[in-house]
Amino acid sequence: MACSAWRSMLSQVVLGAARRPALCSGSFSRGMQTVTLIPGDGIGPEISSAVVKIFEAAKAPVCWEERNVTAIKGPGGRWMIPPDAKESMDRSKIGLKGPLKTPIAAGHPSMNLLLRKTFDLYANVRPCISIEGYKTPYTDVNLVTIRENTEGEYSGIEHVIVEGVVQSIKLITEDASRRIAEYAFEYARNNQRSSVTAVHKANIMRMSDGLFLRKCREVAETYKDIKFTEMYLDTVCLNMVQDPTQFDVLVMPNLYGDILSDLCAGLIGGLGVTPSGNIGANGVAIFESVHGTAPDIAGLDLANPTALLLSAVMMLRHMGHHEHATRIQTACFDTIRDKKVLTGDLGGSSKCSEFTADICHRIQDLD
Ligand SMILES: NC(=O)c1ccc[n+]([C@@H]2O[C@H](COP(=O)([O-])OP(=O)(O)OC[C@H]3O[C@@H](n4cnc5c(N)ncnc54)[C@H](O)[C@@H]3O)[C@@H](O)[C@H]2O)c1
Repeated sequence: MACSAWRSMLSQVVLGAARRPALCSGSFSRGMQTVTLIPGDGIGPEISSAVVKIFEAAKAPVCWEERNVTAIKGPGGRWMIPPDAKESMDRSKIGLKGPLKTPIAAGHPSMNLLLRKTFDLYANVRPCISIEGYKTPYTDVNLVTIRENTEGEYSGIEHVIVEGVVQSIKLITEDASRRIAEYAFEYARNNQRSSVTAVHKANIMRMSDGLFLRKCREVAETYKDIKFTEMYLDTVCLNMVQDPTQFDVLVMPNLYGDILSDLCAGLIGGLGVTPSGNIGANGVAIFESVHGTAPDIAGLDLANPTALLLSAVMMLRHMGHHEHATRIQTACFDTIRDKKVLTGDLGGSSKCSEFTADICHRIQDLD
């Protein structure tokens, strides 16, 4: 079940390092679609290089435009991403991103937040589906979290009222709530999902979560083919750890989504195997691994590239390259199921490069 569920789930989301990525120029780029590759920090370059190699083995019709993303100060002292990265994303519309470090007290906002704001990446989509052969306490998990990505508790509006008293404002707007609800229902319909659950605390935050919930209810009225339920966040957490199989698509405001999506990733084996996509306005989408830069193992060839690879598979489906996506995903899951070549976090002792090579060989064997 897991393989086919992953296949349909990763479909239609709206819907170097050691080696140089395929460049988007000249005859090489004919018939290829450009993707902006942001390798990121820490283990980012290693896992990005792994994905590039696997895409080459699969002859995926993608050429990479590699861009570094560090915060720079623009006119008026505003923090921004480098213009060449913005220009590449504006043109390609599709990005694949490794983890970015967020230096504490560096003076600039989180790079992930900056990217979200720059491209109005309003929906974070995380399919959590059990991986066959990778044992966790849960089997048959098959759900998707859809998190509102732009406002809520993460709107960044905080101030000191008087010494010792700080206020943080949770911003909920009608437009953003309607937009994410519409996205969730559309996603459910396009991915043969049968239900959407709105996750909220409108019993306590009557105005803010109340508005979010009202918009979900209104949108639900226009999607009669999809079952709509609403549930308190605490009830969802309790029910989720008791029996995750009861959930299908879940839609929620920013903070709840941040926490619940990590919890759900834990059910299938953690952030190292969980893909993610960020869907933005104007057709922009950035796919990313949701784990951090893993500074403890960076540069040691020990990282697991699965999360970035499955995010890249999600990206391929978003771009309509379903066959390539299926071949890469099949090879990756075969490697994991076989258990002979696994990285440390998956219980093995192989290197990132060995894991990558195994997937590449399997792809060639599938030809
Ligand atoms: N999406 C992102 O860009 C993102 C997400 C989370 C954290 N971060 C940043 O990453 C940095 C480190 O954060 P952290 O230490 O809290 O979390 P982390 O995810 O980097 O590491 C937590 C643990 O998981 C392991 N791990 C993570 N990814 C792995 C992989 N692919 N393969 C094998 N092991 C893996 C690490 O070795 C570590 O032991 C911080 O600067 C943080 O801001 C970025």
